[in-house]
Amino acid sequence: MRLFRQDILSAQPARLYRAWMAEFRTPFFRSFMINDPALLREVLKDNPDAYPKSDRIGAGLRPLLGESVFLTNGAVWKAQRRIIDPAFEGGRLRDTFPGIVAAGQAGCTRLNAMADGTPQMIDAEASHVAADVIFRTLFSIPIEDATAQEVYLRFQAYQQAQPILNLAAFLPGLHWMPRFFRRGVRGQARAIRRLIADLTQARLDQIAAGTAPDDLATKIMTTPDPQTGKTFTKAEMIDQVAIFFLAGHETSASALAWALYLLATHPDWQDKVAVEAEQFTGNFSDLSKLPVTRDVFREALRLYPPVPMMVREASKPTIFRQRRVPQGAQIVLSPWHLHRHERIWDNPDGFDPARWQDPATKTAQRDGYMPFSAGPRVCTGAGFAMIEGVVLLAQLVGQFHFAPVEGQVPVPAAHLTVRAQGGINLRITPRTK
Ligand code: HEM
Repeated sequence: MRLFRQDILSAQPARLYRAWMAEFRTPFFRSFMINDPALLREVLKDNPDAYPKSDRIGAGLRPLLGESVFLTNGAVWKAQRRIIDPAFEGGRLRDTFPGIVAAGQAGCTRLNAMADGTPQMIDAEASHVAADVIFRTLFSIPIEDATAQEVYLRFQAYQQAQPILNLAAFLPGLHWMPRFFRRGVRGQARAIRRLIADLTQARLDQIAAGTAPDDLATKIMTTPDPQTGKTFTKAEMIDQVAIFFLAGHETSASALAWALYLLATHPDWQDKVAVEAEQFTGNFSDLSKLPVTRDVFREALRLYPPVPMMVREASKPTIFRQRRVPQGAQIVLSPWHLHRHERIWDNPDGFDPARWQDPATKTAQRDGYMPFSAGPRVCTGAGFAMIEGVVLLAQLVGQFHFAPVEGQVPVPAAHLTVRAQGGINLRITPRTK
């Protein structure tokens, strides 16, 4: 694990895993990485309006995402969340459950064809199943649908062309970002948005005709802002669909792939999940019978948070830990470092799902864990993602056995999400009961 740290942060000092705050200077701005729980609270929960999302980070995403909720700030962002959030509230999330289960079953069928024990690239399968989940829950169409398929393939091409977040710019000296490849990015973005526009228009027509299925898209398109009474226009909806697809499938795919890798390398935990998975019959109420699977998924999100870092901007001068933070300074919040912080976690690099049931880790859970961010800008899909991750793990591990490929240790790299350089290969075989 030590070795692995050197890989992800090649030249960077281990001190970032012990520091409460670190300051970086670039020719154009200063950035502060904060791990101090009090500062995280200030930025994310107590005073979030003073620390809007940094525009520097959004630049690479704008051609694809336009004015989507992921990028906006202030009054526009608040209005967008008032419309979107209700679709993801507890009771309504239940409606997405059948779509998640159906995507998981389709994933199992695909895996069956490759479960012969030869090395298989598991991240590709994780992306496929997570994209299927999003299409089924958002638009009630499976990934085999021609438009869904094309959006999915073009998104993949987009990502290859554009590693979205150039975090290295914020933390000079960190060498964990792949190089930028800009060729074709705008063209791909335009093509994806055209396809999403078609899906959105078709849905508007169905809503008008009274034939729309009650999925996430319909919920979001028919919910008025309680303050203004306005619903999203078609153009606004295209921006939101783009971010749901992007934020919703790449993150979940990353988490699922790492969770399967961790289970492959910890067969005792894999067996526990498999035993628990026997309880899963595809009903919503079965979720409460999967506590170990849930802890495994949480632990995977701790060790490999799909969104490794987030960036905010100080809108006015302030003081952090007796240091002056100038207006315009970039504030880097790093789930990656926080989740492995040596002053917060025992055995920070170890895979130990049991820690989630240990009362002694309550403080660490509160102060040192934010895979979905926190405060009013918390991930809209957090509840959804926790259901999805647990269901997919139970379905896959219930049916298949996953083993590592000797000599292959995946090296994490920050692409759009935390992915393994060159992918994660696992040997898959049917599970014998
Ligand atoms: C394991 C899966 C996921 C992880 C780890 C994750 C993580 C995150 C994080 C850390 C943020 C905050 C980013 C920032 O403030 O810079 C975020 C925002 C967001 N996520 Fe997720 N996410 C996941 C799944 C999903 C899903 C399934 C959806 C939708 C279906 C979704 C939709 C969003 C949206 C719309 C935002 C923007 C919220 C805002 O800025 O107000 N996410 N996510």
